[in-house]
Amino acid sequence: MDTKPPQDKIFASPLSELVDFSFDENVVDVFPDMINRSVPGYSTIINLIGIIAQHYAKPATHIYDLGCSLGAASLSMRHRLTEDNCKIISVDNAEAMIERLNKIVQRDNSKTPMQTLCADINDVTISNASVIVMNYTLQFIPLEKRQAILSKIYDGLNQGGCFILSEKLAYPAEQENEMLIDLHHAFKKANGYSDLEIAQKRSALENVLIPETKETHLQRLKETGFSQVFPIFQCLNFASFIAVK
Ligand SMILES: C[S@@+](CC[C@H](N)C(=O)[O-])C[C@H]1O[C@@H](n2cnc3c(N)ncnc32)[C@H](O)[C@@H]1O
Repeated sequence: MDTKPPQDKIFASPLSELVDFSFDENVVDVFPDMINRSVPGYSTIINLIGIIAQHYAKPATHIYDLGCSLGAASLSMRHRLTEDNCKIISVDNAEAMIERLNKIVQRDNSKTPMQTLCADINDVTISNASVIVMNYTLQFIPLEKRQAILSKIYDGLNQGGCFILSEKLAYPAEQENEMLIDLHHAFKKANGYSDLEIAQKRSALENVLIPETKETHLQRLKETGFSQVFPIFQCLNFASFIAVK
């Protein structure tokens, strides 16, 4: 039996009208293939999130995965958590994602309780958290709402708890920015995407995924109140940060 995940062909044919990218049913079907072939270092950060969560998780606390998609980060944490009475709360506002995630969770037999929530991150309450993850999701939140979400995350974390943030980066100097974008496209091409697919996906994401610079992320996390803020991983223009309360 072929167990390869369905291949992402969403932008393979010329589209007469390019609409903004959305996490709909078509995307859900090919999401694991899409994210692995599009985000350099994705499998490494998923594994690291599990390891870091294991280090910071405390008994009887909540672990949040905000913008969980099909739960790769949630499950990486779930498979490593050893603390008693932790609960993972996985949030996504795309109904198709949460429906598919529920099926994936049914087949996963780890013992840590896991709750899935179809909700907007802007509306969820965050409390008693020892670990919070936002893996490539803040970039989809309108710029003016990002600080409020980070403040809510900070307030909901217990002292000593950690926040893991991964984002696509922009570079302040245009030449550097273009160079990193070109390298990212070379990465996608090496993973089998055509020039047409790369160009159409880029246009579809243009108004939806708004990257910020590494400096903006680090400064905002510090200003939010986190006592320790570090970059922990970077692959081309995709980076992850840890922020400890
Ligand atoms: C790039 S994917 C995240 C990948 C996922 N964290 C992982 O590690 O595989 C972004 C996800 O964020 C979700 N999302 C975007 N805006 C959201 C919001 N305001 N509230 C909840 N989920 C949101 C999307 O539906 C999508 O599933």
